[in-house]
Amino acid sequence: MKHFIKETDFKAHELPGLFALAQSLKQGRGRHTPSSLAGQTWAMIFSKSSTRTRVSFEVGIHELGGKAIFLNKNDIQLGRGETIADTARVLSRFVHGLVVRTFDHDELQQLADFGSVPVINALTDLLHPCQTFADAFTLAERWGRGGDLVGSLRGRKIAFVGDRGCNVANSWILGANMFGMKISLAGPAGFDAAPEFDQLLAREGFAKGYEFTSDPYEAVRDADVVYTDVWISMGKEEETAERIKVMSPFTVTPELLAAAKPDALFMHCLPAHAGQEVTQEVLDSPRSIIFDQAENRLHMQKAIMATLAQSVHAG
Ligand code: CP
Ligand code: NVA
Repeated sequence: MKHFIKETDFKAHELPGLFALAQSLKQGRGRHTPSSLAGQTWAMIFSKSSTRTRVSFEVGIHELGGKAIFLNKNDIQLGRGETIADTARVLSRFVHGLVVRTFDHDELQQLADFGSVPVINALTDLLHPCQTFADAFTLAERWGRGGDLVGSLRGRKIAFVGDRGCNVANSWILGANMFGMKISLAGPAGFDAAPEFDQLLAREGFAKGYEFTSDPYEAVRDADVVYTDVWISMGKEEETAERIKVMSPFTVTPELLAAAKPDALFMHCLPAHAGQEVTQEVLDSPRSIIFDQAENRLHMQKAIMATLAQSVHAG
């Protein structure tokens, strides 16, 4: 049985099939009724706010023929101290899959270890793999039109500017290495990824798989994509004043985007804070593909759920 806790839970040889499935689900949406989750119920346990992830999963489960139950962590006994292990064991008796958004990445691993149904990472402090895969699909749709979707990513360069230690940056380091892309990150010192992430990178053989610079112009040189995320991730609100101060040289401006390749695209996982990590002009520019990214969360997550559900039957 398969989980999707980190990007590398999918192996390189599985990616072309996954991307092709996302594409066919997108093209057939509203015309064909897939039944990959027919008769199934999936629980969504969220400890943090969400617009895109929550709605795309609820809609996606419905469109695959299943039913979603949304559980705010504080509404279930987990929020009052019931163990993760018991929660996983109990929910596995009722539902066919778990979609989880939480703080501590290890909680997710425990749910997978003690439960007996597929677990999907809907964002932790460490990683946001559904975002990376939907983003990569968004790029592949443009670059690999009519041909090799996954192969079209190979050799491209992505520049991540801003909070270079956040979950989306970490996920893109893993993703870039899997997709054969180069990644260069620019951000202020002192906001590095958690040591847990370095250990994960080393285990995956990607320890040297990124460049880091404190100069955003150096990071975006020859980049095909300029990517940013909020400076104050969920759970970091107490550091707001300090983060705004030290990250202010890292705003993605029209000038910075112009220093990338002439046809470079701008990406942001959203929600955006215009005037902080990016200007409104960049968000609104023709280079910005932020809403394609958001839409593709739905199609890619449907493909991921269908694959995981099938893995249960495969044993
Ligand atoms: N990008 C993303 O995960 O958005 P939400 O926090 O709205 O789910
Ligand atoms: N880094 C952001 C991503 C939101 C989708 C956060 O964790 O809040």
